[in-house]
Formats: sequence, C-alpha cells, structure tokens
Amino acid sequence: MAYETILVEQRDAVTLITLNRPEALNALNTKVLAELTEALAAFEADASQGCAVVTGSGDKAFAAGADIKEMVDKSAAEMFNEDFFAGWNRMVAATRKPWIAAVNGFALGGGCEVAMMADFIIASENAKFGQPEIKLGVAPGMGGSQRLTRAVGKAKAMDLVLTGRMMDAAEAERAGLVARVVPHDQLLDEALKAAAAIAGMAPMAVKVNKELVDAAYETTLSQGMLHERRLFQILAATEDKAEGMTAFVEKRAASWKGR
Ligand code: HXC
Repeated sequence: MAYETILVEQRDAVTLITLNRPEALNALNTKVLAELTEALAAFEADASQGCAVVTGSGDKAFAAGADIKEMVDKSAAEMFNEDFFAGWNRMVAATRKPWIAAVNGFALGGGCEVAMMADFIIASENAKFGQPEIKLGVAPGMGGSQRLTRAVGKAKAMDLVLTGRMMDAAEAERAGLVARVVPHDQLLDEALKAAAAIAGMAPMAVKVNKELVDAAYETTLSQGMLHERRLFQILAATEDKAEGMTAFVEKRAASWKGR
C-alpha cells in the first residue's frame, strides 16, 4: 500500500511506521490521521505482525503538532460538525496490539498527544515534549490535558499546559512520561528491539496485558483487580499457557500458537 504522508515497512514481526512530512516537521493533518489509521488497522489485522513502532522522519521532529496551516481557517462549527480530532480516539480504540512511539525530536501539541496514544514512549536524548496550544489561543484537543495529567501528575501537567514550555527527554523520563531515553543514533534500534521482544510473546497474552494496564486508567482498584484476575484465569485456558509453562519446565523456547 502506497501512502503519501507515512512510510510503512515490515521488519519480521514488527511494523515500522514513519510519519513522513519532514518539510512540515511531520505536522499531523487529516491525511496523516487517515493513513496512520489505515496502517494501524492493517497491522492489527495481520497475524504475522506482533508490535508496531511509530517514529518521525528526519532528525528534528517526531511531530511538531496538529497542522496549524490546516486549522487556521477552520471554523468552530466545522470542527464541531466534523467532530475534529475524534478519529484519533477511534484509531487508538481499534488497536489492540501494542505500538511504541520512538520519539526522535520535537513531540509538540498533537505530536506529544500521538506519542501518548502509544503504549509507551522510547525517546532519543534529543526529544522535546510540550503542549504549546495555549500559545495559539487554544487548548490540547487530542488528549494532552488528560493523558499528560495521568502520566505526569497535575503539577507538571499544569506547568506544561499553561506555560506551553517544552521539557527535554531527561525531564520527561523523570516525570514518568517516557519509558526509556536512549542515545539519538540508537533510538530506532532500541525501539525495534523492544517491539521484536513483544512480538515474540504469546499473542493473546500481549493483548490481555495491554488491556489490563490500560484498564488501570479507567477503573477503580477493586474493579481493576477483578478484571486482572478474570483475564489471568481465562488465559490459563489457552494452549499458549500450557506451552509457555511446559517450555519453562523443559528448559526450551516456547512455540506460540496464538490460541
Ligand atoms: C504546520 C508546521 C508546524 C505545525 C512546524 N511547521 N510546525 N506546520 N503545523 N504544527 C512547519 C513550519 O511552518 C515550517 O514550514 C517548517 O515546519 C519548519 O518549522 P520552523 O518553525 O521553521 O522550524 P524551527 O524554527 O526549527 O522551529 C521548530 C518548532 C516550531 C519549535 C517545532 O516549528 C513550532 O513551534 N511549531 C509549532 C508547534 C506547535 O505549536 N504545535 C502545536 C500545534 S496545535 P514553512 O513552510 O513555513 O517554512 C496542536 C493541537 C491543536 O497540535 C489542538 C487545538 C484544536
């Protein structure tokens, strides 16, 4: 499938998606959303693919935000009637397999929000995160006020959202936004390695683990614990549970069936 704004390639069981509008610092327009949605849906449907990595082309940006030039003339009525930005939520909800954001530079506004839609973020030392929408007279529209606050807490989220300042990779890691910070030239290797490790796990267990961690954001502790225990018990009925535990006892690598 040929895309205009993204590049997609399969590396064994890992799908690598590169946001590819370097002339606009990979700003996210309607076309990027449509193509990323399609690429993630294809990844989701392809049983040979176990994990995806989303990164930005060039050395400078993961994505410098939603495309300001696309939004500048858009009226409030148009945004309301199109439910502008709602497609991003649908894309996240439709993707049960994990994907990692490999943040290689600026992740601002919608760029930071897309990174936070991923299951976790691996950042290069050059990465810079921010929600600068306030400087444009608006506010985050794709989860910045919600996911950022859940990730880093109220104090730092308020600081970032109200001042529009950027934080570097080290601060983002200290704050809990970023899982790992790696040297810039090793970013893609590290992200692909992490993705390959995930893709090598039992497929149903991968989906369940993702669902359970996500549930921690949505439920009470007791509901979440029940959800966790029930899914653990259901996984115990899979052939892959028998295979995984038998392989451990027999000191050999497991061979997953996905059922
Ligand atoms: C459209 C963008 C863009 C964006 C950069 N560009 N960010 N185009 N939308 N979000 C374009 C520039 O216009 C320029 O193209 C080219 O990319 C290079 O950018 P420069 O500004 O020349 O680069 P530099 O001086 O290095 O500055 C980098 C930067 C800056 C600090 C990242 O580009 C910047 O501040 N960008 C905007 C960041 C931002 O505000 N993001 C949030 C967007 S709102 P031309 O052709 O002009 O040279 C959002 C959610 C909105 O994400 C929700 C509300 C509804």
